Amino acid sequence: MNFDVVIEKTEKLAENIYFLRLRSERISAEAVPGQFVNIKCHDGLDAFLRRPISIMRANPAEKTFDIVYMVRGKGTRILSCLECGDTADCVGPLGRGFTLPEKGERICVIGGGIGVFPLLFLLERSKDVHKTAFLGFRTRDMIVLQKDFEKVSDRLVISTDDGSFGHKGLITNPFIEYLQTEKPDRVYTCGPLPMMKAVAEACIERNIFCEVSMEQRMGCGIGACLVCVCKVRHNDDFGYERICRDGPVFSAEKIIF
Ligand SMILES: Cc1cc2nc3c(=O)[nH]c(=O)nc-3n(C[C@H](O)[C@H](O)[C@H](O)COP(=O)(O)OP(=O)(O)OC[C@H]3O[C@@H](n4cnc5c(N)ncnc54)[C@H](O)[C@@H]3O)c2cc1C
Ligand code: FES
Repeated sequence: MNFDVVIEKTEKLAENIYFLRLRSERISAEAVPGQFVNIKCHDGLDAFLRRPISIMRANPAEKTFDIVYMVRGKGTRILSCLECGDTADCVGPLGRGFTLPEKGERICVIGGGIGVFPLLFLLERSKDVHKTAFLGFRTRDMIVLQKDFEKVSDRLVISTDDGSFGHKGLITNPFIEYLQTEKPDRVYTCGPLPMMKAVAEACIERNIFCEVSMEQRMGCGIGACLVCVCKVRHNDDFGYERICRDGPVFSAEKIIF
């Protein structure tokens, strides 16, 4: 179902990274971490297909939800020109979200680049658990929402590829190091495929529950066109599932990377 949602707040968080707060009673009430909205960026033929963006936070009391996106091409560039009071045509909340942890568990999130946004929503909604967040960015200038992550995690580890902030190198390095001494109950990851593959393999090896949030170009966003499929294990065989409908969150064991 699509809604015209009003933009309540816009903010440029970093070069090419924008925050939007949108008003929708339905989406804010129904959204769960890991779900996304599919946004129509323009009325004409330019950027004709909707663009999927994760819900980063939902506040049912205020009837708002937040998204953060990076300008990558035509669609997101058009989005970045929206102003407060404008409306955006959104379908959502869509997809299957993360499995929330149980009280008393220890969870770990590993995010890279634009993959960090749905993990903030997950951390916010995970109550009475011990939370460690590992976030990787390309460089210091691309680190966003650090304070928001600090607020909702017990421990935050940041890495940058160039070493301009935090650990130097891939975020999977401090995560694997952490696994030498700790065994979290649940691990959740979202970001570049090689990062998620490394996280998934480390968890499967140690028998740790792990969910990955997959990203793929989308057509319809509602399970009809099969543009977004990924390869999955079906017992001893393999098959394909739709990231928009069967995911974007999958059990790490299921994905054939
Ligand atoms: C479930 C889901 C959740 C997402 N959540 C977010 C989010 O929270 N924040 C965010 O910034 N982005 C998110 N994305 C990615 C976002 O949808 C794309 O960046 C966006 O569609 C690009 O549109 P565009 O018109 O600006 O670029 P286009 O002109 O369509 O493409 C520009 C470049 O981006 C690449 N690209 C486009 N779509 C994708 C994609 N889905 N995955 C990988 N590369 C792509 C293209 O190959 C091309 O190189 C998400 C994607 C999915 C599937
Ligand atoms: S985008 Fe059409 S089936 Fe997923």
